[in-house]
Amino acid sequence: MTIPDIHSEFKGRVAVVTGGGSGIGRAVAHRYAAAGGKVIVLGRREEPLKETVEQIVAAGGAADFVSCDVRDAAFMAGVIDGVVDREGRIDALVNNAAGNFVSPAEDLSPNGWKAVIDIVLNGSFYATHAAAQHMLAAGSGAILNVIATYAWHGHPGTVHSAAAKGGIVAMTRTLAVEWAARGVRVNCIAPGPTETEGASRALWGTDAARTRVQAGVPAGRFAGPEEIAESASFLLSDRADYITGEVLVIDGGQWLGKSIYTHEKGSA
Ligand code: HXC
Repeated sequence: MTIPDIHSEFKGRVAVVTGGGSGIGRAVAHRYAAAGGKVIVLGRREEPLKETVEQIVAAGGAADFVSCDVRDAAFMAGVIDGVVDREGRIDALVNNAAGNFVSPAEDLSPNGWKAVIDIVLNGSFYATHAAAQHMLAAGSGAILNVIATYAWHGHPGTVHSAAAKGGIVAMTRTLAVEWAARGVRVNCIAPGPTETEGASRALWGTDAARTRVQAGVPAGRFAGPEEIAESASFLLSDRADYITGEVLVIDGGQWLGKSIYTHEKGSA
């Protein structure tokens, strides 16, 4: 294979990023546009989407936005079809939109469970299903799902999100095999604690929680959204052409470091 120039590798290509108004989604949108691609950011609130687009355009990139809720399958299909009508193609889809809050499982209402499953698992499938119609017809495309390592190791207080993310891993692997021969790749990234407003508010809202989370990361720090976007752009690019059905963990060693044994000198 020819290794593409990473500074212009998305030139002439189009990506859709859900939850593109903030955090990791916004960073991925910036990164895709910085390498020459056009990015359409989707999300519920218009203001942050507009801001993402303005930032990308001010930096010399190309971007647009559509307000929508990933939970509405028919609307999502219309949005994706609309992107292809306007732009002529869709090369990449990033399922980044998420909903999350910490709740003991026994206190979680059926509606709370449903809200998160609908956004994370169902929403990812709806967008994937819609985008795949075009990608499969074109014989190429890259889909990237944003998950979390608790999809396999679990985490107290996140039963709804962990179940949804675990479902996405199964979906990713299934679709990867189903679509590999037709040029469509499906992968996941699993970011660890990342400095974003949404995750900070939902998952480490207090100083004590923040300190505890950081102490659990062998690398000793949170990730910046732009370094998550770097790995995302690799998986979306032709450089990753032979990678499908994979989960790339970007967590500073967090989940591997969950061992109950200490490695301090003098201890067992
Ligand atoms: C208990 C809660 C709750 C909370 C909502 N609910 N917040 N239950 N504790 N903190 C319950 C409600 O009571 C309701 O159930 C049901 O959930 C739906 O709530 P709504 O507010 O009506 O839903 P909606 O407006 O659709 O909002 C969805 C949401 C919300 C998921 C609840 O938080 C959201 O939209 N979040 C999007 C942004 C976000 O969360 N980003 C963080 C992603 S970070 P009842 O029974 O009362 O009707 C992330 C990183 C993970 O995912 C990885 C880290 C390593």
